[in-house]
Amino acid sequence: MGAIIGTCMVGNVFLIIIPNQRKIVADMLAGRPVDPRLGAMGKQRSVHNTHMTLPVIFIMISGHYPMVTGHPLAWLLLALISAGGVSIRYFFILKHSGQIRHEFLFYGAMLVFAVSVIASSKPKKDVAAMSPVPFSTAQAIVDRHCATCHAATPSHKGFAAAPLGAAFDTPQQIQKYASKIHERTVATTSMPLGNETGMTDDERAQLGAWIQQGAKIP
Ligand code: HEC
Repeated sequence: MGAIIGTCMVGNVFLIIIPNQRKIVADMLAGRPVDPRLGAMGKQRSVHNTHMTLPVIFIMISGHYPMVTGHPLAWLLLALISAGGVSIRYFFILKHSGQIRHEFLFYGAMLVFAVSVIASSKPKKDVAAMSPVPFSTAQAIVDRHCATCHAATPSHKGFAAAPLGAAFDTPQQIQKYASKIHERTVATTSMPLGNETGMTDDERAQLGAWIQQGAKIP
């Protein structure tokens, strides 16, 4: 979505706004009458771009918000954030023309608030109904999907030390990080990084069940 909207914005600038300006300047210099449609088209495209700014900025930094990007309703959250961004931007556009319309700030804030409510109420899997997951299963999943980076001496060539000092070499270390592991792999899907190791939903559910069943180690 970010690439599509960004491409539209670049297209607006390089295919309409700048060429039209060049034509207008050339006409003026040559003493020809200037076609008012050229300016109107450019203005329309810059109005479009202005409204797309905040949604695109959000999409650019959205990798930091796995609560949103990893949510099953991510499309809805993005739509709400975009509408909120447009509303906030509209407040500033009006403000620059001397009108103060606080309701557009309010609409924007309400939409973003709706996003936070939906993002934090992700449907929980019924782990109580899942059969008990032994530590050996959880450890095997961590070894397969996390240990290349999260070890005292990572084997992943991109890492010289465990990221943020979080090493999962021993059962005690895995247990200590249990709630954070849940946060990164089940509540959100920000780990494994870029899902480089191809962790499946089933593995996430099993790891999550082991943690919610008390993160017991032998
Ligand atoms: C390709 C390397 C890589 C893999 C594989 C990986 N991680 Fe990470 N992990 C990172 C990096 C880099 C960070 C720090 C950046 C961040 O917080 O997003 C991190 C941070 C974390 C943190 C936060 C630690 C803290 O103290 O806040 C947790 C928890 C975590 N990872 C869990 C996992 C789990 C569980 C797996 C496996 C299912 C996993 N990671 C797989 C690279 C990786």
